[in-house]
Amino acid sequence: MAQMIGGVGVSHIPALVPYQDQGRENEGEYAPFFEGARPVRDWVRENRPDTAIVIYNDHGLSFFLDAMPTFALGAAPGYVCGDEGWGARPLPPVPGHQDLSWHIIDTLIEDEFDPTICQELELDHGASMPIRLLWKPEPDWEIKIVPVAVNVIQHPIPKAKRCYDLGKAIRRAVDSFPGDEKVMMLGTGGLSHQLSGERAGFNNPAFDQSFMDRLANDPEALTRLTSGDIMREAGAEGVEVVMWLTMRGALDENVNELYRNYYSPVSVTASGLQLLVNA
Ligand code: DHB
Ligand code: FE
Repeated sequence: MAQMIGGVGVSHIPALVPYQDQGRENEGEYAPFFEGARPVRDWVRENRPDTAIVIYNDHGLSFFLDAMPTFALGAAPGYVCGDEGWGARPLPPVPGHQDLSWHIIDTLIEDEFDPTICQELELDHGASMPIRLLWKPEPDWEIKIVPVAVNVIQHPIPKAKRCYDLGKAIRRAVDSFPGDEKVMMLGTGGLSHQLSGERAGFNNPAFDQSFMDRLANDPEALTRLTSGDIMREAGAEGVEVVMWLTMRGALDENVNELYRNYYSPVSVTASGLQLLVNA
């Protein structure tokens, strides 16, 4: 059966897309964030997962307020990294793992999760920035993906506990997928940030570190937080951390934290990176 080897939590930031596409990762205030990704890139290169299940939120590129699925799964042969205003990204489509997508969809519906099924889906920075952080498109991507979009844009949004349970259901699907391929989780978003309103620019480094501590050692404690609790502590957009919790739900009860990076620059988002592997 397929093997779940570990998971990565990482922030996603649209302003980093041009730095990636123009080969300028070691320029500007986010250079320490890119540099800090090196150990995770090395882990990916050494462990060679075949497939990444990417838990992210779309920010209005593929879904908007007119029709907003709570959970949506891609089941496409490939995914274009969409144009969010800087022009088309110079990246080939990221290959999809269609058989695994359909197997997860079947298993989730059996488990009463009922995701929206997307046979076409464009990826916004929520998925494309973290994927490009860990893999290179040339000569090919060296990874296949199953994208899973979780709504944190249009309220009401799913509870932390529901997201964690979704991760557990995804794990059951991976455990019953025939073959011997290696699968990893990638959860994107957060950490603390607020983009608008009175608290625009808000960060909470104490919450961010404590979130990563609990994610590794006591994820059940995080499932007791309400969305309001998280937004108070981490800012309105900080609620994206439920993607990390979904990722964690798909890992073993006990994990080893192999790496953590935290970088909070002058701009908006406190950027975290955490690598957890099954013990
Ligand atoms: C920023 C961060 C996000 O998660 C996002 O979706 C948009 C913007 C930011 O830091 O600018
Ligand atoms: Fe975001």
